[in-house]
Amino acid sequence: MTAVLVKGGTVVTSTETLKADVRVENGRIAGVGADLSSHEAHIIDATGKLVLPGGVDVHTHFNLEVGGLKVADGFHEGTRSAACGGTTTIVEHPGFTEDGSITAPIANYRKQAQNNCVTDYALHGVVAKVGENTKDDLAALVREGIPSVKVYMTYAGRLNDEEMIRVLEIMKAEHGLVTVHAENHEVIAELTRRLKDEGRLAPTSHPLSRPGYCEAEAVERMIALSRAAGNAPLYIVHLSTGAGLEAIRRAKAEGLPVYAETCPQYLLLTDDEYAREGDDALKYVLSPPLRKREDCEALWQGLADGSIDTVATDHCSFNLSQKTARGRDNIFACPGGIPGAETRLPLLYSEGVAKGRITLNRFVELVSTAPARIMGLAPAKGDIAPGADADIVILDPERKVTISPETLCHNADYNPYEGFVATGWPETVLLRGEAIIENNEFREREALGRFIERSRFTE
Ligand code: URP
Ligand code: ZN
Ligand code: ZN
Repeated sequence: MTAVLVKGGTVVTSTETLKADVRVENGRIAGVGADLSSHEAHIIDATGKLVLPGGVDVHTHFNLEVGGLKVADGFHEGTRSAACGGTTTIVEHPGFTEDGSITAPIANYRKQAQNNCVTDYALHGVVAKVGENTKDDLAALVREGIPSVKVYMTYAGRLNDEEMIRVLEIMKAEHGLVTVHAENHEVIAELTRRLKDEGRLAPTSHPLSRPGYCEAEAVERMIALSRAAGNAPLYIVHLSTGAGLEAIRRAKAEGLPVYAETCPQYLLLTDDEYAREGDDALKYVLSPPLRKREDCEALWQGLADGSIDTVATDHCSFNLSQKTARGRDNIFACPGGIPGAETRLPLLYSEGVAKGRITLNRFVELVSTAPARIMGLAPAKGDIAPGADADIVILDPERKVTISPETLCHNADYNPYEGFVATGWPETVLLRGEAIIENNEFREREALGRFIERSRFTE
């Protein structure tokens, strides 16, 4: 494998910003420093560019099938899209199966992902039923390098509070992490029933059926369940509200092991999108729904002050044509989810760093270092340091890209940020020293992504 020397750029980690070269040997970072040289290395000129650790997106749904509908971006297209946006490792959330098996979705997803991913990849487990095999199945999952599971407080695969405590206890004993989709199911069911009875089936009913207090209550309850399980580690996915954030702040202030993830859509888009004309509003159907401007501002504050730990995407790209076919006459039948993996780094850089909401180092922490650490991918991922995998993003801070499905490489037939102009875009992306994106072009070749066995939760 040819050595690589990234020369003349500004290396940014979660703690440091320095003018330095990066030497890569055998897919790993071999040195970071001034005026490095390397015999017969391939030189990449990074003058005027930022040299960052590859992005780590710990919440994707690239292989999801729900109600007979499959998302538009499979593992190949999804990871290609993620790579084009500067992400080099993803952690996929499998959907639940009807019988609630913990092991079957993992075997299926591993098969689908093998030799099919452009980036490195890992998996979360999912627990949709608790029974006599749960303890053994979860122990086996953690041994397989999958030390986190997702549980749902809503949808068909939801668990009740007692089952949640059981899963939290088991995962704590296994040094694993429970991630949770926190929304109050009973309230959503009741509000949905009322809206349906009144014949209110337009997109504006989507946020009305799942108000912010549903999330805040569920986050608060989940923290209580984690206490009941002996302060089991808890990770709240796709946090969307200021009220939910307040519950997380209180838990963190007490020193509880509670972590929070938000996504760009909850920082940048609001529920005004549901009032769009025609089918356009369907583009924004996802759960939790988009919230108010005040929620976006509260979440930005949470990113800046450390109350929110990571920014992931919840990339779940049903096509607009699929959303329209099911949801045009009844919003409650519309498949939920939006594409986002490709725009995560550029939007957070452009709207966060360039607009002065977060620092450059905090940006790196949120999109790479913290997700890698919390999800057991460090020290190989999430840093530019000797010994780490040479997953490197060379970002041009001046490049402006107008977002649209035509300028991006995802498969979905729309993009929720269409028309946004991002300032700053990844130009070259290395995965373990190999260029997967070079000068803004995806390098079509065999899929280099490997399954990453993650370490147990140690924070
Ligand atoms: O609507 C969404 N976000 N679908 C993806 C599944 C989930 O709840 O994360
Ligand atoms: Zn979810
Ligand atoms: Zn999700």
